[in-house]
Amino acid sequence: MDSTSSPSPGSSGSPAFPITHPALSDYLIAHATPAADEVLRDLAEETHRTLPRHTSMQITHDEGAFLALLARLVGARRAVEVGTFTGYSSLCVARALPPDGHLLACDVSEEWTAIARRYWERAGVADRIELRLAPAAETLRALPREETIDFAFIDADKEGYPVYYEELVVRLRPGGVIVLDNVLREGRVVDPSATGSGDRAIREVNATIAADPRVESVILPLRDGVTVVRKR
Ligand SMILES: C[S@@+](CC[C@H](N)C(=O)[O-])C[C@H]1O[C@@H](n2cnc3c(N)ncnc32)[C@H](O)[C@@H]1O
Repeated sequence: MDSTSSPSPGSSGSPAFPITHPALSDYLIAHATPAADEVLRDLAEETHRTLPRHTSMQITHDEGAFLALLARLVGARRAVEVGTFTGYSSLCVARALPPDGHLLACDVSEEWTAIARRYWERAGVADRIELRLAPAAETLRALPREETIDFAFIDADKEGYPVYYEELVVRLRPGGVIVLDNVLREGRVVDPSATGSGDRAIREVNATIAADPRVESVILPLRDGVTVVRKR
């Protein structure tokens, strides 16, 4: 959800606008299908237990189910994730790919992605996930400039979103989908006093996408705000 460079939702006081009412949060998770299985539940539990200060970075299960649903809807075979952490979203996306599918997972943390690797093995999807430990902008720029990506998820440092979006959209095949997380910044996108670098970068990428003739898009008030972008 949040990035290493920004305060974690919930850990820095109340959000400006609580998008998901706390009373509804568990209800949303309970009604997303398929429900989290033992592997996902264990991954969430281990992340909460071993990385309590970073727990809020992990996507919630309803968001994971949403990513998997979209990946299946577009028949994704080739996927990219920017921001892997301990692997919840990558596991959801990888499971939605066919056995010969490929997910390129981008992150900079060896420590956090070591946890992800264990759960990819346990879930039997390690062979379809390639982890690149490097700044994601470098990883994406090094990919061939061809329209081959079916599905991408952006959930890393917010300052990088404008670059991640541009590098991915030129490589997305027509009809392919990009999902961006945390695009409402707990409501700070509409708070003029919020001038942090992450807030400015998210406003920039939101404006870019809204004016981008290459795509159609909607911001959904799911969790901290999720943009779904489809390339024309
Ligand atoms: C919000 S977490 C990702 C959560 C993950 N999607 C999940 O479902 O658990 C953000 C991740 O972005 C990574 N990150 C931060 N800056 C990065 C960069 N420049 N390039 C690649 N990854 C980066 C962090 O190491 C962290 O693991």
